[in-house]
Amino acid sequence: MSDYRTVNRANWDERAPAHAASATYARQRFVDEPTFISDVVRFDLPLLGDVAGLRAVHLQCHIGTDTVSLARLGATMTGLDFSSASLKEARSLAAVAGADVDFVEGDVYDAVDLLGEARFDLVFTGIGALCWLPSIDEWAGVVARLLRPGGRLFIREGHPVLWSLQYDREDGLLVIDYPYFERPEPIVEQTEGTYVDTDATFSANVTHEWNHGIGEILTALLRHGMQITGFVEHTSVPWQALPDQMEPIGGGEHRLADRPWRLPHSYTLQARKVG
Ligand SMILES: C[S@@+](CC[C@H](N)C(=O)[O-])C[C@H]1O[C@@H](n2cnc3c(N)ncnc32)[C@H](O)[C@@H]1O
Repeated sequence: MSDYRTVNRANWDERAPAHAASATYARQRFVDEPTFISDVVRFDLPLLGDVAGLRAVHLQCHIGTDTVSLARLGATMTGLDFSSASLKEARSLAAVAGADVDFVEGDVYDAVDLLGEARFDLVFTGIGALCWLPSIDEWAGVVARLLRPGGRLFIREGHPVLWSLQYDREDGLLVIDYPYFERPEPIVEQTEGTYVDTDATFSANVTHEWNHGIGEILTALLRHGMQITGFVEHTSVPWQALPDQMEPIGGGEHRLADRPWRLPHSYTLQARKVG
């Protein structure tokens, strides 16, 4: 299992500076506009509610745009990621944005050892996070242990049905080609670019990923003492997931150009730690 971490970390380390420089992540707006928050967090607000005063951890925080956004909304933020290059960008963003965020380098599965047990009111994660983790059950255990009794999980994530589709079809068909259910073996991909517009070129292009079905995610959370408090499926996703079939609809969201109601693009799942 150590190999997937090495391969994936190299991929993220190489891409972090290009992401930080991209229009997608809107770094300069954090500098110029003291109340600016990311499109991702703005989308979340109606379901997320007030986070002011909460002790929150953002798992797999990448370059910190969502973490800093939550800090701007009044949460006391910790961001965790295993990519040192991502955290370098995240710390730089927090500094220029005037946000006081504690960024910690480490693997999600080590988060309790690194951050402590039952310390948080809110675990926030998603938008391309779960696909990097081989076991959803182990992830759910980490989430439950990080939360104080009564604390909550908020995740908006790409839908596993979307992850299972052939992403490069030009004929308009939605064809399931990748696993929907979690498999022991990774989906190994070779991708030269990244999901933002950039002139940067990369050499660490291999990724190891896993899908996790909705039932598997819900069952894992329930098994670790979490009560499901909300589950909403959306007809948009905040990246260009099917390049030949999706169109931008504003606010950083993308959806199928043809009959978007055919596909659950993303979901928001909320759960509370029983106790
Ligand atoms: C697409 S980003 C998700 C963050 C956020 N939604 C965003 O778009 O900025 C994925 C992040 O997961 C991190 N990551 C992947 N596997 C990880 C692991 N096992 N432990 C900690 N971080 C991990 C990567 O370093 C990367 O920063």
